[in-house]
Amino acid sequence: MSLIKEVEERKAFERIGAHSHIKGLGLDKNMKVVFKKDGMVGQTKAREAAGIIVNMIKEGKLSGRTIILAGPPGTGKTALAIGISRELGVNVPFIQMSGSEVYSSERKKTEVLMEALRKSIGVEIHEVRKVYEGEVVSIDIETRPHPYNPYQKVPYKVKIRLRTGDEEKTLEAGSSIAQQIIGHEVVEGDVVQIDAETGRLVKLGVCLESERGKTLDIDTQQKVPRPGGKILKEKEFVYTLTLNDLDKMAAKQRSGGVFSLFFGGVESKEIDSEVRLEVDKQVKEWVDEGRAFIHPGVLFIDDSHLLDLEAFSFLSRSMESELVPIIILATNRGVTKIRGTDVLSPLGFPLDLIDRSVIIGTMEYSPEEIREILRIRAEEEKIKISEEALDKLVDVGNRSSLRYAVQLLSLAAQDAKVNKKNVVSAENVTKVSGLFMDVGEASEYLKKYEEKLLKI
Ligand SMILES: Nc1ncnc2c1ncn2[C@@H]1O[C@H](COP(=O)(O)OP(=O)(O)OP(=O)(O)O)[C@@H](O)[C@H]1O
Ligand SMILES: [Mg+2]
Repeated sequence: MSLIKEVEERKAFERIGAHSHIKGLGLDKNMKVVFKKDGMVGQTKAREAAGIIVNMIKEGKLSGRTIILAGPPGTGKTALAIGISRELGVNVPFIQMSGSEVYSSERKKTEVLMEALRKSIGVEIHEVRKVYEGEVVSIDIETRPHPYNPYQKVPYKVKIRLRTGDEEKTLEAGSSIAQQIIGHEVVEGDVVQIDAETGRLVKLGVCLESERGKTLDIDTQQKVPRPGGKILKEKEFVYTLTLNDLDKMAAKQRSGGVFSLFFGGVESKEIDSEVRLEVDKQVKEWVDEGRAFIHPGVLFIDDSHLLDLEAFSFLSRSMESELVPIIILATNRGVTKIRGTDVLSPLGFPLDLIDRSVIIGTMEYSPEEIREILRIRAEEEKIKISEEALDKLVDVGNRSSLRYAVQLLSLAAQDAKVNKKNVVSAENVTKVSGLFMDVGEASEYLKKYEEKLLKI
């Protein structure tokens, strides 16, 4: 295969995001909240509520419902949604988007939402497919500067070395697989399956024969034996695609007709509604024949107050149809105007939508909770910090916001590093909090210099 090449050693890619410490909702076997577990701290009521939701989703009792996460900025709404996604397991689709993403110059709002809804519905199909399958021996993600933001690095290529009982090979793939590897937190020792046609990656579990499989005692992850046979195989097996995968495949098949001879099979930015109807019909047939099962997943729309009336009404309408996921909307707004109208409404959402939703509220954190979250973040970013420095950051978090305190932590660590110190001290925190402004300070500053600033 031309896909297979030798790989050289390379430094592992550091994967730290704002929520990378969240591994789940931190509940015990009886679904009771443990104060600090799975990277989650406090926020007891919201986490317990989220736990109930997770159970209902797993039992398939929630499809077509809306859950609203409401609370002040930085109180863990996004963290909670990520926690829910971690609890659902890798094969239940969890799609995350921001309300602002519906505004695209190339596609209609409803099209963006429709695609997101269909990405959130898994279809477990029993059929013969070609897949790459094996235990991950090494992952080498190459990043390059974002085309529009050179300071941000994005993954664009990945070399992933897989091993089965019979062979070991390196596959080279593009950014979509690289992103899935990061998204699913695939590491050495995991067993993965990559669909040869769609490129969709599924993490099957930790390989029993790997180092991690042998040492990992806590049963948080499923363990699976190392696959036998070839890495690229054709076999009858259970596979979970999404409705959107099926839409794209059907659309491709269509454009591969006579038109492709003349126009080179130009891919359309939007999928025909007819194609979707066909896919739905096909899937329903498969379900009737017992060859497919539907797994409604979750569509999480962060900053949902950015959606407008058209988007809300599209979502409400979609919830009535047969094939729908669970929709989670997060917002930090109180009573505000629904975008694009003069109508005041709680959360900036239409009342009829609120009426058919369950609302989970997040509360502001106590100093003790802020301290524990900062400790977790320090651990996650491999930062050593003195107790006095932590005291100062807790103080900042209390006065300003948790998010600002988390940001200052990284900045203070950078300052310590520049000064060749291993441990972040109170001075580092004082210094960076003097250099940067929080929201309150920034608006004070702008007010003070209002006269001198440019006006439109
Ligand atoms: N209960 C928690 N346990 C651990 N970490 C948390 C918790 N709540 C929030 N965090 C972390 O604190 C930071 C801010 O939280 P997050 O982004 O989830 O807030 P948010 O409610 O979504 O805010 P916004 O309204 O501004 O979107 C994140 O890094 C998040 O992972
Ligand atoms: Mg958020």
